[in-house]
Amino acid sequence: MFLDPNYIRDRIRTVPDWPEPGVQFRDITPLLQDPRSFRVLIELFVYRYMNQRLDLIAGIDARGFIVGSVIAHELNLGFVPVRKKGKLPFDTIAEQYALEYGTSTVEMHADSVRPGQRVLLVDDLVATGGTMLAGSKLLQRLGANVVEAAAVVDLPALGGSKAVRASGLSLYTVCE
Ligand code: PRP
Ligand code: ADE
Repeated sequence: MFLDPNYIRDRIRTVPDWPEPGVQFRDITPLLQDPRSFRVLIELFVYRYMNQRLDLIAGIDARGFIVGSVIAHELNLGFVPVRKKGKLPFDTIAEQYALEYGTSTVEMHADSVRPGQRVLLVDDLVATGGTMLAGSKLLQRLGANVVEAAAVVDLPALGGSKAVRASGLSLYTVCE
């Protein structure tokens, strides 16, 4: 069981037709609720990144905050939020993108990353890849070296992981 991605996959629930008809929503709350599977998930990321000389973890609003901030804490790194539009109080930069169900804009504080910093971008899930690509663009505009993008779940049928990798960004996902 220890650090077995199947252990993670088994604790992700699929909710049909939410938030709209046709969407198979992958719900990570059962995984987070179970202390053992939450710990296995975090350990998978920690072992992968502990020797990568990272400077910072960037987590995407909102579920990327849950996973990304714990990884940052475990690796003794700082955490910066990639937030939905209108939530950050200081000077921001923004990127708009398309979702599986709608469009959205993400923002970062303009002073959240220093040029050349080695950053891991974290979210819970890659569907169309729009969110991860927008987050990566923001980081690159701030001069970051985006070492990798990481997520718990990949939905390969939606083409996002392929698009992210085609952009030249390395992507790690724990399960499908
Ligand atoms: C979900 C998910 C990812 C994104 C993935 O977030 O948490 O951030 O969609 O989709 P994509 O690969 O097609 O861009 P959502 O925007 O639903 O926001 P939430 O985390 O606040 O629920
Ligand atoms: N974000 C975009 N598509 C999603 C899905 N199918 N499940 C959970 N989060 C998502």
